[in-house]
Amino acid sequence: MAKNTLSFVCQNCGAAYNRWQGKCEACGEWNTLAEEDTAGGVPVSIRSKRKGRTFALESLAGKSPDAPRLSSGMTELDRVTGGGFVRGSVLLVGGDPGIGKSTLLTQATSMLARAGHRIVYISGEEAVAQVRLRAERLGLSDAPVQLAAETSVEDIVSTLSEGAVPRLIVIDSIQTMWTDTVESAPGTVTQVRASAQALIRFAKKTGAAIILVGHVTKDGQIAGPRVVEHMVDAVLSFEGEGSQQFRILRAVKNRFGPTDEIGVFEMTGLGLREVTNPSELFLSERDLGTPGTAVFAGIEGTRPVLVELQALVAPTSLGTPRRAVVGWDPSRLSMVLAVLEAHCGVKLSGHDVYLNVAGGLRINEPAADLAAAAALVSSLVNAQLPTDAVYFGEISLSGVVRPVAQTPARLKEAAKLGFQRAVLPESARGETGGDAGLSLNAVNSLTTLVAEIAARGSRRGESNAPAEKNATPARFRRGEG
Ligand code: TYD
Ligand code: MG
Repeated sequence: MAKNTLSFVCQNCGAAYNRWQGKCEACGEWNTLAEEDTAGGVPVSIRSKRKGRTFALESLAGKSPDAPRLSSGMTELDRVTGGGFVRGSVLLVGGDPGIGKSTLLTQATSMLARAGHRIVYISGEEAVAQVRLRAERLGLSDAPVQLAAETSVEDIVSTLSEGAVPRLIVIDSIQTMWTDTVESAPGTVTQVRASAQALIRFAKKTGAAIILVGHVTKDGQIAGPRVVEHMVDAVLSFEGEGSQQFRILRAVKNRFGPTDEIGVFEMTGLGLREVTNPSELFLSERDLGTPGTAVFAGIEGTRPVLVELQALVAPTSLGTPRRAVVGWDPSRLSMVLAVLEAHCGVKLSGHDVYLNVAGGLRINEPAADLAAAAALVSSLVNAQLPTDAVYFGEISLSGVVRPVAQTPARLKEAAKLGFQRAVLPESARGETGGDAGLSLNAVNSLTTLVAEIAARGSRRGESNAPAEKNATPARFRRGEG
């Protein structure tokens, strides 16, 4: 006999009960319980009689049509998607309001439409006139993008089912969409989830690629939150410091490509400009000759990126000194500080420490340890580091400088940008990939590097500037080793 799978489900929070009651105990809402079949929506009478359909099983080696991609014509965008939009895939672009999501997508869609593809842009947030105004400002109003200001998913799906299947559909934003199939208001979790589901079904059925725009809420999650993230094929996040012109597009999840690539853009009066050589951009406003800055030779995905790390170490009167970091992992900073204290004899407990990655870039690599340590010590002893040097290397808890991947690529980029020296892990010396034209300073322990920087500080202190005397290595006690 078929088991009874009917239960009472709260339409507000999704809690299920086997008896009706006036108030949902999970969320406290009144009158929200409705009877639902939790076995998958097929009526019991049909389900019990339905005989299972048979399907063919296939081998792994079988031929599947490879995922044909639609290249956007924007190199930086294609780099992040892994070579273009995959047919039938759904991509979520998240970011703070005003960061430039609509601008980016207006530019990408216009270029595709100009190339002869059927491209549809549905705006749920702005009126058609506003979207036109933006396109005009970007000099793209002649592009044959098909435009509409709509929010009903059913209407959108019916309209798009007519005529040729669009190659790409932009939904700006998923939070404004609503579907008849659920009762809750637009923007709620249930609506966002149901709307996204309907659009994903449409994409899989027709082969059109869909881009959903999602706003990030204050706590950094995409509202209608995260429910969409696991449903889509790729999640891109568009980030940047509000005050700066640089915008970074990063893949958070990608079923069809890498997740460590970044695309770099600059917001100008005429829209987003692609930045093909980010190192030049991140180093363009370098403060040459200031203590506390070190250039890190990093890798983002397949591309080397040089960026300046800035540190400020200042005496504090606070019982618990401040530790603030922008663009790097705070626990990584704590670790580097602990190693400096424990193994190199650098006393930092009486100092506030600030660390900043210039240009609004966010670094995830442990290879930045050495550059961060160099910047911190340089600030502490008030000794400027050589302006023509780059730093990279991971620091272990024992104070050993460990090798990192892709040494040749880092050195090549540094040489290309006119750097003369590199401070790198001793064990990486063998894999420099031939002479990159840099003079190499291989260090095997952090103590060595600290001593070198301290020596620069003392030389400086002796020669001039008595005011800086108290900023010389007097602050160092000899490390126990
Ligand atoms: P927008 O794409 O509307 O952001 P989002 O869709 O992520 O909310 O971009 C908004 C900001 O970009 C706005 O503050 C103005 C700025 N902007 C420019 O600086 N230059 C431009 O050419 C455009 C179109 C916008
Ligand atoms: Mg927008």
